[in-house]
Amino acid sequence: MKSRTVEYVNIFDTTLRDGEQTPGVSLTPEEKLEIAHQLDNLGVDVIEAGTPITSEGERKAVKEIAKAGLNAEICALARTLRKDIDAAIECDVDTVHTFISTSDVQMKYALSLKPTQVLSKAINSIEYVKDHGLKCEFSPMDATRTNLDFLRQICKAAEEAGADRLNIPDTVGIMTPPTMQKLIEEIKNVVKVPISVHCHNDFGMAVANSLAGVEGGASQIHAAVNGLGERAGNAALEEVVLALHLIHDRKTGINTKMIYGTSQLVSRMTGIAVQVNKAIVGENAFAHESGIHTRGVTVVPLTFEPIKPELVGRRRRLVAGKFAGKRGIKVELEESGISPNEEQLKEVVKRAKDLGDKGKIVTDADLLAIARSVMGGVVEEEKIIDLIDLAVITGIKVIPTASVKITLDGKEYVAAETGVGPVDAVIKAIQKLTASLANIRLKEYRLEAITGGSDAVAEVMIKVEDRDGNIVSARAAREDVVMASVEAMINGINKSLIKRKTRIK
Ligand code: KIV
Ligand code: ZN
Repeated sequence: MKSRTVEYVNIFDTTLRDGEQTPGVSLTPEEKLEIAHQLDNLGVDVIEAGTPITSEGERKAVKEIAKAGLNAEICALARTLRKDIDAAIECDVDTVHTFISTSDVQMKYALSLKPTQVLSKAINSIEYVKDHGLKCEFSPMDATRTNLDFLRQICKAAEEAGADRLNIPDTVGIMTPPTMQKLIEEIKNVVKVPISVHCHNDFGMAVANSLAGVEGGASQIHAAVNGLGERAGNAALEEVVLALHLIHDRKTGINTKMIYGTSQLVSRMTGIAVQVNKAIVGENAFAHESGIHTRGVTVVPLTFEPIKPELVGRRRRLVAGKFAGKRGIKVELEESGISPNEEQLKEVVKRAKDLGDKGKIVTDADLLAIARSVMGGVVEEEKIIDLIDLAVITGIKVIPTASVKITLDGKEYVAAETGVGPVDAVIKAIQKLTASLANIRLKEYRLEAITGGSDAVAEVMIKVEDRDGNIVSARAAREDVVMASVEAMINGINKSLIKRKTRIK
């Protein structure tokens, strides 16, 4: 069958509903409202704000979002139960998204209902929503494992009952692009209302299946920022949108320049880190290391960049390491205001590769430090900030407290702080000083590797960010986890300050 195409694809964002169902994620009403504002500015068509029946806090969040005056259509999820739908209606949303399982396995074991009972529940619920003057989107849950005749029957009945949109969920992510496209074509043959797809990522195919759904005639995709959602998540909004724009030649209302900022906000608020090699929003998505690649992109970016980083609010990063080439390192140094001559550049490349061969991550700050020492400037060991003294107390009845004495540019400073544990207290004490004196804050802390035994070596890896958003990483390894943390922090701050000095020169 010939596929039907649609030009504009509606983005139905489910970050605040299915996304919040990510194990370990729980957002306050205030956080949900902040994310909703960001999603609205990003340009999503629909915000699924939550499931009002679940709690008082959830109802508060959905109500606040519904009355925030956003451009997006605000939707709430409800089972085909009066109490769920009433809770959604009370939140003053534009749309109720109601759903019920339709696959044999879920009807029998999750609902203990016969298909005829499921059918009448779906119809009654849709009619109930419509009687209240709201839009209704209906989902036959587990549609992709539902008997096709029954799926056709319930979709047709839902349309007749007044559903404004039909969503076809691949609830357990078992589709492939060809089977998804075919299924949507089948449903398109029996209904006229717009069709949506909701794909889960259990086999890593949520984005591909969503796009195939569009090829089959769907005009809306359910997606979540950073691919959040139940189990392996939903189709990632950023991937769906970029693929629609750049590969499928479709349009959406998304302002792509806001994609990275949105991803960062959602990651920060949910506490779910973005995997480094994640498409579009991962730390490495626009980073190049090998000589061939860095040379290529600095001459003609299209050589190794299918997406312009600026298009999604990002910048290209050239990384030094054992695969690094002379040209990439030269460009990287020049961006920091350093222009080595040919001999110096050769030596910097050699040292960077040596470090890479030893398995070391060569950070931007490492590269600058190498260049400065090769070029006879400030030696690598130069310390702008240094730890003079440190005292930590902790115990069962004592709040962990740390006091630190540091020197910064030769002057002594002292600070004390409490924390949830000794490491937290000492990091906070250092931060108290560096935040006010040097405007540097801790962005990430990881206890990376611990060898066996109580005298084990703890390896701490940190990232600090300066006032201009420049991030440097540093690590330290010691038997004492407090000392490893302090050393990593001091290293990171020194690197950041050295980098800032280099840039200012
Ligand atoms: O995955 C699913 O089936 C759902 C429904 C509620 C649409 O999230
Ligand atoms: Zn889902």
